[in-house]
Amino acid sequence: MLLRGQSIAVIGVRRIGKTSVLLKTLKLTSGPRVYVSAEGYVEGKSFDLSSFVAYYSSLVISQALSRLEPKRRFPLTLKERSRELLRTLRDLLAYLKVTLDVNPVSIEFYFENKRRLGEALREVFELPQLLAQKIGSNFTIAIDESQYLKLAEQNHPGLFHPLRDTWQFQRNVTYLISGSSVGLLNHMIGSGDQPFYGFFYPVQLRSFSRGTLLRFLGEGLREEGVTYERGALEEAVNQLDGIPA
Ligand SMILES: Nc1ncnc2c1ncn2[C@@H]1O[C@H](COP(=O)(O)OP(=O)(O)OP(=O)(O)O)[C@@H](O)[C@H]1O
Ligand SMILES: [Mg+2]
Repeated sequence: MLLRGQSIAVIGVRRIGKTSVLLKTLKLTSGPRVYVSAEGYVEGKSFDLSSFVAYYSSLVISQALSRLEPKRRFPLTLKERSRELLRTLRDLLAYLKVTLDVNPVSIEFYFENKRRLGEALREVFELPQLLAQKIGSNFTIAIDESQYLKLAEQNHPGLFHPLRDTWQFQRNVTYLISGSSVGLLNHMIGSGDQPFYGFFYPVQLRSFSRGTLLRFLGEGLREEGVTYERGALEEAVNQLDGIPA
């Protein structure tokens, strides 16, 4: 579905394997891809939207650039998220006009000091499509634990509308979101009065069946060189709930 451009929501309880599915799926795509977890930006009851947006745009830009010149290492490529780096990036992206002029692409990225974050959001959300067109390759963007965007929306009312408005017209970007707040996420993507209604194809991750769990545990133990009795395995399966973790 991703390869056909259908955006997908992977929904399942904690520890069920959402992140594994997301990362594995991303690997199957050939174009630039971005993975970001919204969970890291939750601070108590609020959401640090400007850090999220700064990190998100830096990943999008660096991914696009690395597709153009894979051998070059860009300073904006961040493998790990650290608060220190984020703060630097936020300062860079939020208060400076970033102009990247890499042949044959020239990106002008405005986040002028006087501009409020809300006004810059639309541009940020347009960025993947703009870059996808420039580099001629489809983008895939994965946002893990995306139910926290709901928190961001509570802090910044109206956030979802520019998101939906931009995402739905992007022909070269596919979105893959995941979430562990099953009820909240199903509501976000499946209720007629919600901005994301009908946009994501929902994929519900369920726990392993008894048969799969037996096979999974058996193979795992064999891999570890542990010997076991069939009865013990059956008993373990009786006690466990089929969540892979
Ligand atoms: N299909 C699978 N087969 C075997 N192990 C798996 C599978 N899916 C996930 N796991 C293992 O289960 C654990 C949890 O997986 P993962 O972190 O992907 O789940 P999650 O739903 O993202 O969890 P969280 O709610 O903590 O974010 C990991 O140790 C992972 O290696
Ligand atoms: Mg996870």
